[in-house]
Amino acid sequence: MSKQMAQAKQAYLEHMEGSAAAFAPGRIEFLGNHLDYNGGVVLGAAIDAGIYALANPREDKVIRLFSESFEKAVVETSLNGFSKQEGEKSWANYCLGVLEVMQSKGLAPDSGFSLVLVSDLPVSAGLSSSAALELATALALAGLARKEISRKELVGICRKAENEFVGMPCGILDQASSAFGKKDHLVLIDCETESASSIPMPAESRLWVLDSGIKHDLVDSHYATRNQECQDALRLVREINPGLTCLAKADETMIAQANLPDKVRKRALHVVREQERVCAFQNGLAEQSSLRELGRLLTDSHRSSRELFENSCPELDALVESLVENEKVLGARLTGGGFGGAVLAWTTTDFQQEDADGIVSSYESRFGQVPRTHCFAPSKGATIEDWRKTQG
Ligand code: GLA
Repeated sequence: MSKQMAQAKQAYLEHMEGSAAAFAPGRIEFLGNHLDYNGGVVLGAAIDAGIYALANPREDKVIRLFSESFEKAVVETSLNGFSKQEGEKSWANYCLGVLEVMQSKGLAPDSGFSLVLVSDLPVSAGLSSSAALELATALALAGLARKEISRKELVGICRKAENEFVGMPCGILDQASSAFGKKDHLVLIDCETESASSIPMPAESRLWVLDSGIKHDLVDSHYATRNQECQDALRLVREINPGLTCLAKADETMIAQANLPDKVRKRALHVVREQERVCAFQNGLAEQSSLRELGRLLTDSHRSSRELFENSCPELDALVESLVENEKVLGARLTGGGFGGAVLAWTTTDFQQEDADGIVSSYESRFGQVPRTHCFAPSKGATIEDWRKTQG
């Protein structure tokens, strides 16, 4: 870029009165599968890839939403009345949902705006690009409206948007990992109290994600079914344990005494044992147990997903089984909702791209598809960006 052009750009940026920008990272679910909406304690991490949002105020009431990832599906609507988008424009529901919740709390801008979203996060790769989209939008809109929102409030706004506007009955794992992320740390989220803290990620390990590329139809409806089965389990266990606040706080004796239908019992056992694994991981780290021993908890989590929660699929099982044959892999499991999506491999630092490539080629010969592989570092959480300073 010529010197004049750089100066012109700088002057332009400085005179963009009232604009706001934000960044929100994607997340990895490290351990604690389907515990969040069951009031459990889960471990996530924000990653070093995410979504940038730049919002510019307008004089009128028009809202214009543009995402580089869906550039043919621009959404233009009005601040005074918007509805859920369909088909190729449905990506914008995460932004509109956030806007609706912020309006109800008096946190949204009064005038229209243009929102531009740019992402370096693979879409549909199980890294929760949807939560990143929600958080980046919420922070940029709060910036436009000159409102301060705490990270806890941010998480609540985004989850409500996803539950009520988008219609996905998720918990807070994705939003809280993105909001509370910290460089080189895992985020420990107590989903009952909605509070978070961070614990150092062992430096001698790495996080790899292998995206199977499988997105089964009905993922959302399977997720909702699992959520319902867990609610059924809680209701039945509470009949003999009325003080129980959430399913993640139950134990195996309570499950055995409750005489649950077989499917519901399996889901409940997954939740209770998964919660034990998260606690064992946390304690093991504090007591400096070997990483290999801790990694086994991740692989056990996957087996429980496969057998008890039944949210795995042959492709994810194959990735996990071939990963754990490699001695540089400490543990591997599906990450996120399941029924397709991605596998997380927690590895030693010796695990390299050629190791990942070996797993990919055996997967390709069996399933005829090439999973994408990524190595991510636990990173900082969502922030309002001073984008004038970050431009060249
Ligand atoms: C998805 C949901 C999360 C969580 C995980 C499973 O990522 O969005 O809220 O329930 O699945 O642990």
